[in-house]
Amino acid sequence: MTSDKKAILLVAFGTTVPHAAEAFDRFETVTQSRFPDAEIRWAYTSSIVRKKLAERGERKESVGEALERFAYDGYRNIAVQSLHTIAGAEYHKMLREISVFQHKPVAQNIAVAAGKPLLANYPDAERVAKAMVAGAPSERKHYEALVFMGHGSEHHASDLAYVALASMLNNIDNRAWMGTVEGHPTLGEILIECKASGCHTAWLIPFMSIAGDHAIHDMAGDDHDSWKTMFENESITCKTVLMGTLDNEAIRDIWLDHLQRALTEAK
Ligand code: CO
Repeated sequence: MTSDKKAILLVAFGTTVPHAAEAFDRFETVTQSRFPDAEIRWAYTSSIVRKKLAERGERKESVGEALERFAYDGYRNIAVQSLHTIAGAEYHKMLREISVFQHKPVAQNIAVAAGKPLLANYPDAERVAKAMVAGAPSERKHYEALVFMGHGSEHHASDLAYVALASMLNNIDNRAWMGTVEGHPTLGEILIECKASGCHTAWLIPFMSIAGDHAIHDMAGDDHDSWKTMFENESITCKTVLMGTLDNEAIRDIWLDHLQRALTEAK
């Protein structure tokens, strides 16, 4: 049995924080309304997250598993949309799993196309930078700092995407900075710049698809080395926002545009 219905596989790193995962549900609702005729499923690229969820009885599929199930269910056109921020380790893992699937007998006569992550090119990065500033909380006064926490990538060239975006962001709003947890720019760099600007208040906002572990603990937590603590040690009052980029409408639309392209390519 085959299906003419298009298949969409939404691929995220994943999270073990139930409240954070609700952002995935909201994104699915919006995706379904933009592509009403498609069958939408999810896969998580993080095997650690999948393992932790399995231990509490929540089974999440890997990209390979989800693709095989689509194949067995008769779908022949599959768009695999990355909800990663950069073309880094997780995105490349997704591409590898697609490629492994395509070499299996079950994948014969099935068209699979991959949708790009958020920061795919210069125009996208410009859209993202604008959307980050535009999506700031309305209570933010223009003289207060906007400080975004990206993930960063230790070993990949794609880490440079964060450096580029941080610079575009600061050009749009000279009181907006972006740093990363595991790459560049570092927290130390932006802390110096923010302090030098004379800002006394900073809004800490995740620049990650969802407000998961990093946002809750490393950004907004009370540990001695959380971003909140580090800023407050410099006498900068922090207001934290626990909402990821999947809940920023203008950013969400960029991912959906990438998905649209992947759907037309999955023929
Ligand atoms: Co991490």
